[in-house]
Formats: sequence, structure tokens, C-alpha cells
Amino acid sequence: MKILVTGGTGYIGSHTVVELQQKGYDVIIVDNLSNSYADVIYSIEKITGILPDFEKFDLCDYNKTADFFKKHKDIDAVIHFAAFKSVKESVINPLKYYNNNLISLINILKCMKENAINNIVFSSSCTVYGQAKILPVTENTPIQKPASPYGNTKQISEEIIADTVKYSDIKAISLRYFNPIGAHKSSLIGEYPLNKPNNLVPVITQTAIGKRKYFNVFGNDYNTPDKTCIRDYIHVVDTAKAHISAINNLINNKNNLNYQPFNLGTGKGYSVLEIIKTFEKISGIKLNYKIAKRRHGDIEQIWADPKFASEKLNWKTERNLEEMILSAWNWEKHLQKLN
Ligand code: NAD
Ligand code: WQD
Repeated sequence: MKILVTGGTGYIGSHTVVELQQKGYDVIIVDNLSNSYADVIYSIEKITGILPDFEKFDLCDYNKTADFFKKHKDIDAVIHFAAFKSVKESVINPLKYYNNNLISLINILKCMKENAINNIVFSSSCTVYGQAKILPVTENTPIQKPASPYGNTKQISEEIIADTVKYSDIKAISLRYFNPIGAHKSSLIGEYPLNKPNNLVPVITQTAIGKRKYFNVFGNDYNTPDKTCIRDYIHVVDTAKAHISAINNLINNKNNLNYQPFNLGTGKGYSVLEIIKTFEKISGIKLNYKIAKRRHGDIEQIWADPKFASEKLNWKTERNLEEMILSAWNWEKHLQKLN
């Protein structure tokens, strides 16, 4: 079975390539390296013993994408990670986000149709739910107007896929990730973006290692037990493993619908202060942080109901918060040795 992994040198993509190879799938990565490094393929090889095939090009380039698909008609399924993902940048430069995230998806779907490749797993996000009124969120929780152009690209992408499957042989799954964190236990791959990360866990580990003097806790006036925001953090390896289940599910026709979204979360929410305390306990390092104003566009609290994914995909999360934070910390220490 041959799987095309777009964005496969990126954070979640690289962890998924490892899991796919370890389950015996052949993998071919396409990435334009706009937010990752080519060397990641050698780190993958160190873990699995297999160097993944890799082609560097921009999936927004239709001719290159079409040539690629013509050359690789034996692909059985596509996992489409490639996208820009900074909420902040998408507000400042929305067209960059609409262009990259939507054109790449449209090109892939066109080429899949032209080459009779019929299975796709798409990286969506819990951002499509906004601030849900009832928690935890299920797949039936109403979608809300997204808070950012980035979020909107995920919502529009889901609609494009849902419309496409209606009149084609394509079957699709969207995986709505909650907050993936952590790194592979080998510390050979992890979150290693070209762009400066703004997410909580890399900001914490960068502060602890000395790359940042301090960080801000965005708001301590929320209506939550300790007044800081709550999120459903999920280990990146658990996230990666769900993609194998999704591929199995598609290939074995296990869905009633040709398009099916799933939530990928643990079902448990943690506050910003709980994450900070867990990091301090695990690392023995006291973090330097300040309480700051709320960050524009942040929702107060969200966590997933993972029941549907666990029943339909035969998948569940296996790694707890301590393992997530420890692996993120080990990865940051590994990065320090490289620099
Ligand atoms: P990432 O930036 O590490 O990986 C994305 C990869 O796609 C990068 O390697 C980048 O170079 C590549 N890419 C981007 N545009 C491309 C294009 N036009 N052609 C070819 N390659 C291109 O991001 P990630 O954290 O691994 O996220 C993967 C996917 O999951 C994204 O679609 C993201 O929106 C989605 N997602 C991420 C999170 C998260 O918290 N990390 C949460 C929800 C959803
Ligand atoms: C987590 C919590 C912050 C940084 C984003 C996207 C979402 C998805 C995942 C892609 C929040 C607080 C953060 C800091 C802080 N990505 N925080 N100080 O905002 O839940 O989700 O990434 O699809 O779409 O919106 O993740 O890690 O940025 O924030 O206090 O320096 O940490 O306010 O409560 P978020 P995050």
C-alpha cells in the first residue's frame, strides 16, 4: 500500500510517516519546505530504517502536481497535511492563507480524480467549532464562523471535500485535531518549524532552555476554575496513529458516508496554568512568565468527545499529559545540542 503524505517533513506529517512505515506502508512525501527542513527524512530513516521517498515542490503549482500524480498512479491514499498554520499571520496576510491552503487542496483533489486515486485524509482543526456552547464537542456540534482566515481555510476545505465526494468516487475523512504537542520518544523528530512558534508548549520549552527571557499567559480572567484557558492537548504520536486508522477505515469502506469528520482529542481539558505546573514538575525548572491581557481570538475552553473516533476508527489516545510534556522538553534539549 502506497501513501502520499503531503507536508510530510512537517511536525505532524513526519510523526505520521514514521507510524506508516512501521506498519509496512510505502510512503512518498511531497513538501515545499516552506516550514520544515529536508533533513527530517534522514531523522525518519534513523527511527525506522527506511528512507522515505521525497519530492520537493509546491502543491499550488498545478502542472507540477499533475506531473507528480501521473508518475505515481500506484498511490492508494493521500494524507494531506501541507498547509500554512499560523493563526496570527493569517489575520495579517489572509490571501497568503486562502491561496496556499485552498489551491493546494483543489489541485490534489483534481489530480486524484484524474488518476482514480480515491482515498484522502485531511488535516482539519477544532478551530471549526469556535467557542462551543456545550462541552465536550462531538462531531455534531455546530460549526461556527471561524475567528481567523486560517480557521476559515479549514472550514472551506472541509466544504470543498464534502462537495467533491458527492459526485466522484473519492472517499474522505477530515481529522479535526485539538492541540497536538510533544515529540517522538527517540527525540529524533519533533516540532521544528522555520517560522517562530507561537503555541503554548514550544513557547514554554523555549523559555526554559533560554531562547526566550519570559512568556505571557494570555488572560487570567476567564470563566474557568483557575481563570486561564482550557484546551485538549493530544500527543503528536497518538495524533499520527489516528491517521493509520483513518486510512484503514477508508480502504475497508467502514464509513456510512463518503465524507466523515472525526475529532482527535483525549476528552480531557487542561488549563494554561496546569500545563505550566506540569512542565515545572517534570523539568525541575521554574518558568519565567507574566500574566498578560487576553489574546485576541482565543476561545475560553474546549475539549473533545473522542467517543466517535474511538468507536469508528478503533483508535484511542495512549499517552498522558506528563508524557506529552516530557517528550516536548526532551526534544527542545535535543535541538539545543544541534545548534
Ligand atoms: P507544519 O507547518 O509543521 O507542516 C506543514 C508542512 O506543509 C510543512 O512542512 C510545509 O513546508 C508544508 N507545506 C505548506 N504549504 C505547502 C505547499 N503549498 N506545498 C507543499 N508543501 C507545503 O504544520 P503541522 O503542525 O505539522 O500541521 C499539519 C497540518 O495540520 C496543517 O494542515 C495544519 O493546519 C493542521 N493542524 C495543525 C495543528 C497544530 O496544532 N499543529 C492543529 C490543527 C490542525
Ligand atoms: C493554547 C493556550 C493561549 C501561547 C492554535 C490554533 C488552532 C490549532 C492549534 C491549528 C491558549 C495560551 C499560548 C502563549 C499563552 N492549530 N497561550 N501564552 O490557540 O488553542 O490553538 O493551535 O489548527 O487552530 O488556534 O493553541 O498553543 O497557541 O494556545 O498563554 O505564549 O495557551 O491563550 O489558551 P490554540 P496555542
